[in-house]
Parts: sequence; structure tokens; C-alpha cells
Amino acid sequence: MTNLDRCYNIFDLREAAQRRLPKGIFEYVDKGTEDGISLEENRAAFQRIKLRTRFLNDWSKRDLGTEIFGKRINLPFGIAPTGSAGLMWYRGEVELARAAAAAGIPFTLAMGALTSMEEVTRAVPDVRKWFQLYPWADEEGSYEMVTRARDLGWEALVVTIDAAPGRGREHNERNGYSFPFRPNVTAAVDMTMHPGWMWRVMRKYLMNEGMPTNANFPERYRHTVLDGKTRTRPKPFQAMTWEHIRKFRDFWPRKLIVKSILSGDQARAAVDAGADGVVVSNHGGRAFDSAIATIDILPEIVEAVGDRCTVILDSGIRRGSDIVKALALGAKMVLVGRATLYGTACGGQAGAARAIKILSDEMERTFGYVGARQISEIGPHIFAHRDPVMSVVPVKSREYA
Ligand SMILES: Cc1cc2nc3c(=O)[nH]c(=O)nc-3n(C[C@H](O)[C@H](O)[C@H](O)COP(=O)(O)O)c2cc1C
Repeated sequence: MTNLDRCYNIFDLREAAQRRLPKGIFEYVDKGTEDGISLEENRAAFQRIKLRTRFLNDWSKRDLGTEIFGKRINLPFGIAPTGSAGLMWYRGEVELARAAAAAGIPFTLAMGALTSMEEVTRAVPDVRKWFQLYPWADEEGSYEMVTRARDLGWEALVVTIDAAPGRGREHNERNGYSFPFRPNVTAAVDMTMHPGWMWRVMRKYLMNEGMPTNANFPERYRHTVLDGKTRTRPKPFQAMTWEHIRKFRDFWPRKLIVKSILSGDQARAAVDAGADGVVVSNHGGRAFDSAIATIDILPEIVEAVGDRCTVILDSGIRRGSDIVKALALGAKMVLVGRATLYGTACGGQAGAARAIKILSDEMERTFGYVGARQISEIGPHIFAHRDPVMSVVPVKSREYA
């Protein structure tokens, strides 16, 4: 068991997770795509930003909470959808959702999760639940899942729009990693060399529900292994357009969020199609290696739609100060992906809670240094430089929408 008290920051949790997980699984979580440039840039962009200090304004009473979609959250962040939490820990999604509930923040379940939305609803009734969808070419299959989330009363549908081109994750090929598992020697050796993980995670699945699978998928896609012929992954929806977002809008009765927005034009198109929120995201550097860091494009997006929808940012959050910087540039909240996954790998709910606490303590300290007692006191005045982020090429028209 990892001594969580000795994990002082997210990077300590990351190192502990690396020791506990098979290499293929760890690298799937940790790495980016191709050369890892976008992954590094996400960190570099936050690190470039410097803040002004401001003391002696009575910091004794403070509140890190805010309102999202008309309801309070205790901290200005939530859990991003990640398909693999259930490989970090047995029923890792439930552990993560419980940590989110205890912290009073929203939890997003990835459609690729190993735990079903029905099970999360049952096990964690009191968390704010968002369901993430990658639309499939088989639209009927997508709607089967969306219908279930709708009927369970989930608060938001998060449609991620960046999947169609596929991912250049060479490390997965090298490590023989895929989910559902594809039988191969490299992955088998990797897993057997991590008996602790096999015992803590895999054994429990095999004893209780059998080989883990994409528990939210319609039955016909719920494979336990891939054979590359009859048992393959469902195809992403390459023919998708904004019309299909409008269709989701018409179908989904509650909040609709479009994830993977990286320009003002695309943000406007999302809001015009009926989105209540957008997630400014480059998928944590896991999708397109030439993608801009989200914090650098955030001002353009806030200017385009900040008064018409809830702007959320993710990608690269590892320190509480990163969250404060995003809020100062106009994000209403952020999502964290890897930070809480590392935590989950180290201690299930307790590990995820440790990650949340680390970020929240760091954030609170940053509030103290910049002289803010509440989120409404965070704004561009906290930046040290006139252009805190790299300026972007101005776009005049909506031609890219
Ligand atoms: C292991 C892993 C799996 C992910 N799976 C999904 C997914 O199924 N759907 C999705 O929209 N985003 C997915 N993401 C992206 C996250 O939602 C989020 O955009 C990203 O992790 C944010 O960057 P960060 O990890 O630096 O916080 C995944 C991220 C990771 C690390």
C-alpha cells in the first residue's frame, strides 16, 4: 500500500502509480501521443504564467467554491472522463466517484469505463454525474447509451468530438496494450511481472464479474478480448457534423457539454448547436501532437462564448496554481484527468481524495498569495505580465466552424 501521507504532490502520486501498474497500463495513462510535444506544452504553458502577490487584505475567511449550472461545487474542478480508472483499482470509477462526492465536485464517467452507469448510480447516488460519449458511426449504439444516462437522470451529457482521426499512440503498440485486451506475449509478460496489480485488481474482477469489459457499451460491443476480426472496437463517427450535436441537443433534456474545443469558432458553433458548456481540451496531449496548449487558447474562447455558456478547461492541471490561472483567464472550472487517476492507482478512493486535497491545498495557498478570498476576486489583475499567455493568430471569420 502506498503511504499517501508521503505523497506531497501529484508528481509523487504519479511515481507511486508507476511502481504499482503494469508498464503498458501506466504508459497508456501517462504518455501523450507521437512525440509528446502537446503533453509537455500543456505544462510549459502554465509554467510560463507568473502572478503578482498581494498581502494584508484579511485572508482569514475564504471560499474556494463556485456555482456550475446553477448549483454549488465546493472546489472549482471536477473529474474528467477517463476510460481506464477501473484498471487503476478494482472498480476504480466507483472509487473516484466516491472521492468526488466527498469533496463536493462533479464526476464524469467515460463511456469506455469498466463500471456501468447503472452501477455508479447505485453505488454513489449523491455525486453530480456527467456521462461522456464518443459518438459512433453506429448512431443507434450511441443513442442506446445516451438513453440510459437520460433515464437514470444524469445531469450532463459530455460529447467528445476529437476521436474521428484516431490516435498516434505508438507506446500502446510497443507495449501490446489495448482495452479490451488483445492477447499478446508482451502484455502478458508485463502483467505477470506485476503480481501486486494482478492480485489487487485483476483477480477481483475475475472472481466477481469476470474479465473486465466496456460495461456501458451495448451488449453486442461488450467484448472481453479483441480478436481484430469479429470482435473489434466500434467505429468512430467520421461523418459527424454540428447537425449531430443539434440532434443530441434535441434528445438530451439536461445540460449538454461539447468537449475538445480549441478555437473561438468551434466554441461558437457548439453554443449555436445548443451546448450549455464547452470543454477547452486537447485531451491532455493524448490526441493531436501539434495541438495548442489549452490555457493559450482560453482567452479567445472566453471572448467568443464566455457570456453564452459555461467554459471549462482541462489538459495539464498538476498544481493548484494552474487552476487559479485558468480561472483568471475566464474558465468557470477545470477538469482533472491524470492527477486523480494517479491517486486512484495508489489507493482507490483514498488516493483520489489525496490528489483532490493536494490540488485544493495548493489552490488555497495560491489564493493567499494573490490576495483572493473567493473566486470572484480572481481575474486578470493577478497576472504579472501584460500578455500572460502566448498570443494566437487572429481569426476573422467563422470559416473554421
Ligand atoms: C487514461 C486516460 C483516458 C482518457 N479517456 C478519455 C475518454 O474516454 N473520453 C474523453 O473524453 N477523454 C478521455 N481522456 C481525456 C480526459 O478527459 C482529459 O481531457 C485529460 O485527461 C485532461 O488532461 P490531464 O490528464 O493532463 O488532466 C482520457 C485521459 C486519460 C489520461
